[in-house]
Amino acid sequence: MVKEKILVIGASGQIGVELTLALRKMYGNSNVVASDLREENDLLKGSGPYVSLDVMNKEMLHVQVIRQNITQIYLLAAILSATGEKNPGLAWNLNMQGLLNVLDIAREEKLHKVYWPSSIAVFGPTSPKKDCPQQTIIEPTTVYGISKYAGEFWCNYFFQRFGVDIRSLRYPGLISYKSAPGGGTTDYSVEIFHEALEAKQYECFLNPDTYLPMMYMPDAIRATIELMEASSDKISVRTSYNISAMSFSPKEIAAEIKKFIPEFEISYKPDYRQKIADSWPQSIDDSKARSDWGWKPEYDLQKMTRDMLENL
Ligand SMILES: NC(=O)c1ccc[n+]([C@@H]2O[C@H](COP(=O)([O-])OP(=O)(O)OC[C@H]3O[C@@H](n4cnc5c(N)ncnc54)[C@H](O)[C@@H]3O)[C@@H](O)[C@H]2O)c1
Repeated sequence: MVKEKILVIGASGQIGVELTLALRKMYGNSNVVASDLREENDLLKGSGPYVSLDVMNKEMLHVQVIRQNITQIYLLAAILSATGEKNPGLAWNLNMQGLLNVLDIAREEKLHKVYWPSSIAVFGPTSPKKDCPQQTIIEPTTVYGISKYAGEFWCNYFFQRFGVDIRSLRYPGLISYKSAPGGGTTDYSVEIFHEALEAKQYECFLNPDTYLPMMYMPDAIRATIELMEASSDKISVRTSYNISAMSFSPKEIAAEIKKFIPEFEISYKPDYRQKIADSWPQSIDDSKARSDWGWKPEYDLQKMTRDMLENL
């Protein structure tokens, strides 16, 4: 078996922490190098190698890939939807140039595989709201969505033209208890649990009936690893796969939390993020991921809520 050495870029973020820990379990601690612009997340400390790295610095990135004998890269560094709307230029630069730097190096160094997540944010107001298909009208209206959609085509281009084995998922909003979310429109679905436990009340920045596609982090990590472990002939989508687990509204998740914390109260004060949420689909058709490489989610709203409250 070929020995793999993995570099995770953006390892201190919401997904990075859990993905790094999962990869270390599979490949061995010393074979998964965590890296980030910010300091090492406490949950990673002592579990394996960490390097400070800016994905925008292509030379330094290239040096690390060669020095550490890297064979696979997971690129998670990005500016997310809500933060991106505050600084569109910065979001475009990081989300595009970071990806192009990694793709170029992957080609030059003949890396075995690259993982890069896209998002349901590629869809816009003209995409179908319900069961949004893999291939449909895609006209994103946020800079984050534009950067993810362009990124998907760069991934496909590097695969078709240079044979870089890059794989991608369009994550929905991700809910987790280990590491904090990083400035997305679905962050309310994590904040609500912390506030329900601490303050017994939460002021939500989205309207009560805003349905969005969501996924619990253990499902997202498993989906990522299953996609990356699938044999190449099973991967028919080289832009990015639709992937889905559940859809709910703030009102529905609040009702679910109330079953465990009866005194919990939610109020609503929609802000600029409402417009972003309104531009996205409410649910996603992930039949291609299911038929190509066997994707199946485990967590629905009830199971996720119970697990979140038990673990927080
Ligand atoms: N969390 C979600 O709900 C969600 C949903 C859809 C897609 N995604 C995608 O998944 C990926 C990871 O998201 P996340 O939620 O973990 O984000 P996050 O903001 O929590 O983490 C991103 C990490 O990247 C690091 N970073 C930023 N700029 C960097 C740079 N120049 N060099 C190196 N590191 C840098 C940050 O310090 C941070 O630790 C992103 O591509 C995001 O678009 C996330």
